[in-house]
Amino acid sequence: MAKLTVLGSINVDHLMQVTYAPKAGETLTANNYQVVAGGKGANQAVAAAKLGADVAMIGCVGSDAIGAQMVAEFAETGMDTAGISAVAGESTGLAMIYVEQSGENRIGIWPGANAALNNEVVDAQRGQIEASELLLMQLETPVESLVYAAEIAKAAGTKVVLNPAPAKALPEALLRNVDIITPNETEAQLLTGIAIDTLEDAERAANQLHQQFGIELVLITLGKRGVWLSQSGQGQRIEGFVVNAIDTTAAGDTFNGGFVTAMLEGKSLVEAVRFGQAAAALSVTRLGAQSSIPTRAEAQALLHG
Ligand code: RIB
Repeated sequence: MAKLTVLGSINVDHLMQVTYAPKAGETLTANNYQVVAGGKGANQAVAAAKLGADVAMIGCVGSDAIGAQMVAEFAETGMDTAGISAVAGESTGLAMIYVEQSGENRIGIWPGANAALNNEVVDAQRGQIEASELLLMQLETPVESLVYAAEIAKAAGTKVVLNPAPAKALPEALLRNVDIITPNETEAQLLTGIAIDTLEDAERAANQLHQQFGIELVLITLGKRGVWLSQSGQGQRIEGFVVNAIDTTAAGDTFNGGFVTAMLEGKSLVEAVRFGQAAAALSVTRLGAQSSIPTRAEAQALLHG
């Protein structure tokens, strides 16, 4: 059984490169349009697989051709796709993404089959979760089943890694079973009420997550400023790589996939963060979600100069 289980969303991304995102009442012609594989769960699972992890995914696609095609492509990365269900009568989740010239994006999502990822789907993969070292989850599938999966993991000694994206308020029942959390600034603010403007703010937010929910490891991603890494209250900033960003879509997903891959290889926390940062830095120099994820060799080349 795979050492890493990723539970989460699978989307087909409709991506338009635009000079700027259209304003209210405005119609814009895009400079480029592509349909690529996405979804935070699938992006993280593909990142981990491409970067060298032994990964199984739990997720749902629709009973449509694009869903079947994406699952076949996931399997080509070496991912175990047995935990991905095709939901009858549903369409595969969809994201409409505007990528502006700055590389920033705006995303609207239709959950489709992702909304069907319920406790029953999780239960069918109980053995996989229990046998894993890490369970990695995000917030694009129903929160109740994340709570349930985290309970299964906790009882089995599987560490729970939560990337709390996209930002939403979360029940304590989930946060209490999380071992490692990886919010960005917006998500950290939503969870703690602390606006993250400075490194001191990041430190305060991390300490709150440690103290309030007993989360051992907090990694707050700070964009160009790097990552605030805090282990049981001992914090430090780890600077990232300077690159020319074309499209930031899935940068966080690639970071998470890379970070957990290196953790599973027994790397130190700082090394694991640096590996995730190198992979994410390369991903922003390319267009799209899964289409932008680098190979392990590419990430290592950037890391080791
Ligand atoms: O994190 C990026 C992802 O968010 C995209 O691939 C899109 O599908 C949305 O889920």
